[in-house]
Amino acid sequence: MNGESTLRELQELEAAASQELGQARSQDDLERWRVAYLGRRGRLTSILRSLPSLAAEERRGVGAAANQMKARLEQALEKRLQSLQAEVASRLAEAESIDVTLPGRPVAQGRLHPTTQMIREVCGAFVSMGFQVMEGPEVEWDYYNFQALNIPPDHPARDMWDTLWIDWADDRGRRTMLLRTHTSPMQARIMEQQRPPVRVVVPGKCYRYEATDATHESQFFQVEGLAVDEGITFADLKGTLFEFARRIFGPERRVRFRCDYFPFVEPGVDVGIDCFLCRGAGCRVCKNSGWIEIMGAGMVHPQVLRNVGYDPDRYTGFAFGLGPERIAMLKYGIDDIRLFYANDLRFLKQF
Ligand code: DAH
Repeated sequence: MNGESTLRELQELEAAASQELGQARSQDDLERWRVAYLGRRGRLTSILRSLPSLAAEERRGVGAAANQMKARLEQALEKRLQSLQAEVASRLAEAESIDVTLPGRPVAQGRLHPTTQMIREVCGAFVSMGFQVMEGPEVEWDYYNFQALNIPPDHPARDMWDTLWIDWADDRGRRTMLLRTHTSPMQARIMEQQRPPVRVVVPGKCYRYEATDATHESQFFQVEGLAVDEGITFADLKGTLFEFARRIFGPERRVRFRCDYFPFVEPGVDVGIDCFLCRGAGCRVCKNSGWIEIMGAGMVHPQVLRNVGYDPDRYTGFAFGLGPERIAMLKYGIDDIRLFYANDLRFLKQF
């Protein structure tokens, strides 16, 4: 081994190292390269180790050349590392860049359930006529659901309401609690609590022990209405409900009242409007009758007034009860009440 051949070897090594370095594509490649050339068992290191075997006068020049070359290779490695890192960073930046000119993704908007909307619309109509809104319990005493409303225990009129009873009996074994079958019990509760004048509407959930079909649900809403004062007559009932019908179903509506029976009113009526779809000519919505029933109503029965401590010779009043789901079904042509409880977004999104 002599100085000249070692110098040549160094030159070849540097050429090979530079070329390989240029081909490195990753930090792993760079590490392999470093181990191969600059590592403890690397090719350059082994040349450096062999220097002592050179003649003294050659050793210095070759040693200096080898050390300079080592420094260049180290520098080149550092440069290559930096450029690789820059490449990675710019590739990442491109992949994750945000195009601020893209239109944003719309935020899904919630909405009120059609039943809630209808209840608000119904109550709003009465509020604007001076009624107050109140709510009451869904688990109710037999007393308020029936007895206070002039429906004694075992009275056949109870058959009008298929009742879901709570498993709770008095000491005579008679069940006394139930899920309210209508919002009418709130009439008695409110009158017990306040003196006339009373003008309230009561929205709320009701329950019946009933098979479900397109027009019957075991749970549904009602809105109850009650107005009691001195001198209230059937004309007040008529005017109020006429106004309501026009608000909800259009200003050209006509109303009709037919006799009906509810134990807590006398006289009791069934309130109808002329069909808003066919204007009375006959269609699917009004079942070809030209008329649509929208609620039950009547003059508060004197016995109901007595039951809450009102003097029926001094006070009179009217009451009504309607189903907001039924009103919505009529208004929007919905043919199945079960849709209101199915939580199907395809239905709900239409309102
Ligand atoms: N509570 C009755 C029902 O669920 C509806 C009703 C009829 C309410 C006449 C009233 C009324 O206030 O006067 O069938």
